[in-house]
This record gives sequence, C-alpha cells and structure tokens, in this order.
Amino acid sequence: MNKPPKNDVFVQRTASFIDLQPTNESFEEAIICGLSGEKKSLPSKFFYDARGSRLFDEICVTPEYYPTRTEIGILAKIGSELANMIPERSQLIEFGAGNSTKVRLVLRAVQRFDSYVAIDISGEYLQKVANELASDFPEIKVTALCADYTRLFELPDADHHDGPARVGFFPGSTIGNLTSEGAITFLRNIGHLLGDGAGFIVGADLLKDEKILLAAYNDSLGVTAAFNLNILHRINRELEANFVPEYFSHTAIFNPEKERMEMHLTSLRDQTVRLAGRDFHFAKDEAIHTENSHKYTIKGFGELLEAAGHKPLKAWTDPEGLFSVHFARIGVAG
Ligand code: AVI
Repeated sequence: MNKPPKNDVFVQRTASFIDLQPTNESFEEAIICGLSGEKKSLPSKFFYDARGSRLFDEICVTPEYYPTRTEIGILAKIGSELANMIPERSQLIEFGAGNSTKVRLVLRAVQRFDSYVAIDISGEYLQKVANELASDFPEIKVTALCADYTRLFELPDADHHDGPARVGFFPGSTIGNLTSEGAITFLRNIGHLLGDGAGFIVGADLLKDEKILLAAYNDSLGVTAAFNLNILHRINRELEANFVPEYFSHTAIFNPEKERMEMHLTSLRDQTVRLAGRDFHFAKDEAIHTENSHKYTIKGFGELLEAAGHKPLKAWTDPEGLFSVHFARIGVAG
C-alpha cells in the first residue's frame, strides 16, 4: 500500500454546531397528562432515549420491518431524477438526524448539494453524525443544528443565506407518527422554514395487506416489544416511578378506520403505579396507547401535501408498492 508523503497535512473536517437549546416540553408533565386521561396514552416522541434509539435501529434491520430497506432501495434508484429537479449548489436540510445511511445516499446520488444542515433535538448524537458526514464529504459544508424541528420557524442567521435553493428531507415515514392535523401543521411549519419554491423529499409508508403491517410491528425477535416497553423503563428512571414492565405486554394492531398501526402497552393485571408522587391505577387488560403510525395511499399523501399548501410533483414506489418517496415544491399548491 502507498504511504502518504511525510509532509502531507491531513485535515479532519468537523461540522459547525449551533445549539438553539430547545426547551424540552417537560417529560414529567407530558407523562402525567397522558396517564391522567380517561384513555391512557404516552407520546411516542419519548421512545427515543439512548436505549430506545438503539432499539429503533435494531427494528430497522429486522426481517419484518420493510420500511427502512424499501425506502433505501427507492432512494438508491431515483438519484438522477431528483437531480433534475434540484438546482446546483443547493442546501439539503434534514429534519431529524437518525443514522445517516439515507442522507449519505441522497448526497452521493443527487450531487447537487454544497451544504447540509441536520436538525435534531438530541445534540450529542447529532454532533457525532454530523462530524462523521463532514469528514466523509469534505466538499460539503455540514452544520448540526440542535433544535426542536417541530417548533422551529426560521433557520438561524448563520445558515440563512439567500443564495442556495433549499431542499428539505424527511425520510422514514416519521410523518406517519403524527395525526393528519399534526402532519399538516408540521408541513406548514417546514414551509415557513424552507421558504416558497424550496424542494421537499419525504418518505411515506403505504397502506397494504394488514398481515405485512402486523408482522412489521410484531417482529419475531421481540425488538419492537422491547422498544415499546422501554418507555416504562425510561419513566422509572427519570421520574422515579415503579412500573414493573413485565406486568405489561406489547400490543400492535391495525386500525382500518383510521388507516394506521397502533401500539399499546396492555396491563396484565390490576395494578397501581407510583409516579412523581401520584398513584396511577391500571385495570387488567387496560391499554396505554403509545404510538400511531399512519399509512397512506400515494394520492392521499399528495392531498396531505396540498392541504399544507405544497405541490406534489412526483412520487416513487418499490415494485411491491410497500413504501413511497415524494418530491414536492414548497408553498406553490394550486
Ligand atoms: C419512526 N417511525 C416512523 C416508526 C414507525 O414505523 O412508525 C417507529 C416504529 N414503531 C414501531 N416500529 C417502528
């Protein structure tokens, strides 16, 4: 192997880091509120502590959970088509920065970006992912922006430049975890942030045979069950609660009326849990609703984009019609 000449300087590129110090909606308040309602629920955004994020990465590679590998397959095929819709020297802005496989694929396949901004609420993980990207894509200016993208309306000045066209990126069908009203509000907010005329690449899981959906959310290794139950471990740790996770079981069902998968934690016995100085009673078979994952048709998702004021330009799917990737123009519907 050739050795580099002695005097060569190797520059390890790092990402710029901007911390908007997102004030987390109080975990305690949200949990107490969710467990005090007539129908108990917990917000699914709280799944993602360190262990929850690791378990989610594991779900993505289970044989039953088709969305991740299917979306990657679609993105790998559509690079040149996307490139035709995106001007040179654009800026790619990703909402949420999970493992960077998908964005790497888009940066490589589209070849139109000279800057990339990753927005995520979890600063430490974000910085790590952004630094790795900065070092692997030295020609791209990488910025990690620690912020709650569901509440962010403007990019900070450091990245607010009139020049480059912007393209938003929201893969993984994370939009499906919002209600349709929540999704429209989110899409309007990102419209303000990206500006009229920007592009938007978004992944949406499709309605399909219930058996495929049920298997995806009830994987045989039990990773999804562990992911769902992990929220009880998190509540125990952070709110000094005394849930016995073994006294709850993971349930995932398809709700045909609402066209969504739902996850619940079902109480296996009559029990009382002490949490933040209060008692919460759970009857045997009572369920805590922990997640919705809406499934769309291509047409239905296009209508959702239009309802938020954006123009769906193109959608791609895989040969089996399991998952879809959409490209929309921001703020120019109708
Ligand atoms: C992150 N989100 C799109 C996943 C989904 O499919 O709704 C979370 C998940 N829940 C169970 N498995 C995966």
